[in-house]
Amino acid sequence: MKIVVTGGKGLLGTELVRRLEGLGVTVSSASRRTGVDLATGKGLEAALHGAECVVHAATHRLRYRRVDLDGTRRMIKILANRPTPPHVVYISIVGCDRIPQRYYGVKYACELVLGRSRLPVTVVRATQFHTLVASIARTVTPGALAFVPSGMSFQSCDHRWVATELADIALGPVPSGYHRAADRAGPERVSLADAVALMRAQEGKSAPRLITIPAKGGTLRAFDAGANLPDAQAKIGGSSFREFLKP
Ligand SMILES: NC(=O)c1ccc[n+]([C@@H]2O[C@H](COP(=O)([O-])OP(=O)(O)OC[C@H]3O[C@@H](n4cnc5c(N)ncnc54)[C@H](OP(=O)(O)O)[C@@H]3O)[C@@H](O)[C@H]2O)c1
Repeated sequence: MKIVVTGGKGLLGTELVRRLEGLGVTVSSASRRTGVDLATGKGLEAALHGAECVVHAATHRLRYRRVDLDGTRRMIKILANRPTPPHVVYISIVGCDRIPQRYYGVKYACELVLGRSRLPVTVVRATQFHTLVASIARTVTPGALAFVPSGMSFQSCDHRWVATELADIALGPVPSGYHRAADRAGPERVSLADAVALMRAQEGKSAPRLITIPAKGGTLRAFDAGANLPDAQAKIGGSSFREFLKP
């Protein structure tokens, strides 16, 4: 079986490729580093040739309209011409349909175009990865003060666990059409204030003085309302943020 991983050189993609290779699967990574550009289509058709499954994990935090959305459309166009199209597994984000931030909006738009594609598609939404929460915690704590938006909390997950979940889905049964899998989330909910304190403790520093910022604007209000948190049907697994931070 040949599986193509778009974004196979990224944080999640690297783990997924490693996992699949460890299981003896033929895996090919598609990203600019392997000569494939989703924004222009360069190398894409050849990269997708012979794929029985495509795990679509490529993304660009700034050029997401061209890379994520146009790239997804471009990929669908190529795959839809196949007599037996491959299973497309798309990694999305919990709350992308509720958080009015452009990147999240594009993730949701990708889900919608895949839903209309008539390809066999599995969409898996995951919560923020621990690495992202750690990076947010660092950003809001420039020194002894932490500027924390009101009500912001995460139930982040370990990207290595998400990679194992995606591998299982890629190797599992192919749906007959569009399928939305259970959301994936880590085992513990942590406020951003706690995440900041945990990280500071890890670095041997005292907890910073918290300055709470009111949840103004659509995105902060959505986080305040918990739009990024998993629902009761979500599949929970992997390490907690606290465990992830341990050396
Ligand atoms: N990070 C999170 O907290 C989180 C949470 C839930 C879901 N997700 C989703 O998980 C997926 C992977 O996220 P990640 O954090 O692992 O991303 P990442 O580390 O930024 O990796 C992005 C990948 O996309 C590739 N890429 C960028 N521009 C490209 C282009 N023009 N054409 C082809 N490939 C391109 C990059 O490789 P090159 O540089 O070689 O092109 C890289 O392999 C994304 O869809 C993201 O939305 C992330």
